[in-house]
Amino acid sequence: MAVAETVAEAVAKTIRLDDITQVFPGRLGTKVVAVDHVSFELKSDTPRIASLVGASGSGKSTIARILLGLQRPTSGQVTYQGKDVGSLSRSEYTTYRRDVQPVFQDPYAIFNPFYRVDRIFWKAIRNFKLAHGRAAGMNKIEESLEAVRLRPGEVLGRYAHQLSGGQRQRLMLARVHMLQPSFVIADEPVSMLDAQVRRHFLDIMIDFQQTYGMTTLFITHDLSTVAYVGGDMMTIYKGQIVEQGTVKEVMTHPSHAYTKLLIDSVPTPDPNDRWKTRVELKDGVPRIVPIET
Ligand SMILES: Nc1ncnc2c1ncn2[C@@H]1O[C@H](COP(=O)(O)OP(=O)(O)OP(=O)(O)O)[C@@H](O)[C@H]1O
Ligand SMILES: [Mg+2]
Repeated sequence: MAVAETVAEAVAKTIRLDDITQVFPGRLGTKVVAVDHVSFELKSDTPRIASLVGASGSGKSTIARILLGLQRPTSGQVTYQGKDVGSLSRSEYTTYRRDVQPVFQDPYAIFNPFYRVDRIFWKAIRNFKLAHGRAAGMNKIEESLEAVRLRPGEVLGRYAHQLSGGQRQRLMLARVHMLQPSFVIADEPVSMLDAQVRRHFLDIMIDFQQTYGMTTLFITHDLSTVAYVGGDMMTIYKGQIVEQGTVKEVMTHPSHAYTKLLIDSVPTPDPNDRWKTRVELKDGVPRIVPIET
């Protein structure tokens, strides 16, 4: 049995949301339209980071779950390589599950408290036949840990609660590195990290895009991180994509009132410094600058 090739280096991949609507039952018989006729696609042939920016409750996580196949939309279609995700064959579904990888906000919830963190890697190796035998598997794990600048001796053999939030989140990135997907769906991956660890994480995410060609949907409510990673952005407002373009274009000429408001009220990770910074363009590049008082 051959070791599966890395997915990202194979043919160009496309995942597409087509007119997706998600309705949830609300309170007292009402309905919540979490996602309202959303269409966009992610393509692997021109690897990009696309940020999805919006306030709490605007439908970001619902879109992430739909892309990951964790939620069937009320209407509309999700296609992977032109085929409805719901009707993929078994082997196509395995490829899709490897090729579209999540990184969630709270990595603590991903780890089973009763097992050492090593288990997430061995499971991935087994499920996707990434290596044969213990030595080859261990090599692969160490290589991926090093790619996210974690020392194997610091993290292997430990339980999730014995690690820092930043280490747990980088373990998830190491798992992504090991699987080499075409797409990464990162739902608020840095919201729980402090400023320095946050930057470190974003740098690895940018490195994955540039070095391995991973196309990333980066979900956030924080425009300063969008300015930092660059690429493309979409603004979501009450379940609808109200604006999209390159980060540079949108931040220079925001057309939707909500994007303007976001740009004017960029919070910073430091709670004492909240609302005292804003995004401004310097030589055409968005930067975070303090508001002069
Ligand atoms: N399983 C569910 N059942 C009922 N309502 C839901 C469910 N999941 C999400 N919702 C509702 O759908 C809307 C969108 O939720 P979603 O989690 O996608 O927002 P979000 O943009 O990710 O918010 P946040 O920034 O707080 O994470 C919200 O009104 C939410 O309450
Ligand atoms: Mg969310």
